[in-house]
Amino acid sequence: MTTSPSHPDIKSVLFSEEEIAARVKALGAEIAEAYKSRGIEDIVIVSVLKGSFVFMADLVRALDLNASIDFMAVSSYGAASKSSGVVRILKDLDIELEGKHVLLVEDVVDSGLTLHFLLRNLRNRKPASLELVSLLVKPEAVQVDLDITWTGFDCPNEFLVGYGLDFAERYRSLPYVGILKPEVYA
Ligand code: IMP
Ligand code: MG
Repeated sequence: MTTSPSHPDIKSVLFSEEEIAARVKALGAEIAEAYKSRGIEDIVIVSVLKGSFVFMADLVRALDLNASIDFMAVSSYGAASKSSGVVRILKDLDIELEGKHVLLVEDVVDSGLTLHFLLRNLRNRKPASLELVSLLVKPEAVQVDLDITWTGFDCPNEFLVGYGLDFAERYRSLPYVGILKPEVYA
């Protein structure tokens, strides 16, 4: 498969539309099987806005489970380009999580500080179970001990955009995950 970037600001395509589609399908099957093997048919999917909206939309359609959907929006205090781990909830969930099987869906785990906060916050709501799926994980960047139940792809410690991920609200609609040219954000 040739994967030349369709956008001049993209250095290279890391995961093509086809590769992502295949991986999301496989993840969906694996996740549904894991829940069903525990006798669970109903889950609540929590998506962290905005980056995970594309992944979430594809993943729910690959999951043969009864899934309620809810969204949270958070923002990191401090420098805009780096996660501080101090997170402010901009939009909270509408659904009560107590006693529910919760699947948290993330786009990318970079330092992991945002998720570390979110997982603690969600655990306090007493879900029956809490699992985490992230499309992308940057193993070299992760700073905290995180229990990531399912990962789509491990990826290099570079700035990625597309398939929901943005830089300054741009590039979210690219169908692939690409590496942004450093001169764009320098
Ligand atoms: P963390 O707290 O450092 O793990 O970063 C969390 C958030 O930063 C992610 O959910 C993304 O919204 C954003 N982020 C981290 N790395 C990237 C990237 O490579 N491209 C776009 N957004 C990113
Ligand atoms: Mg995010």
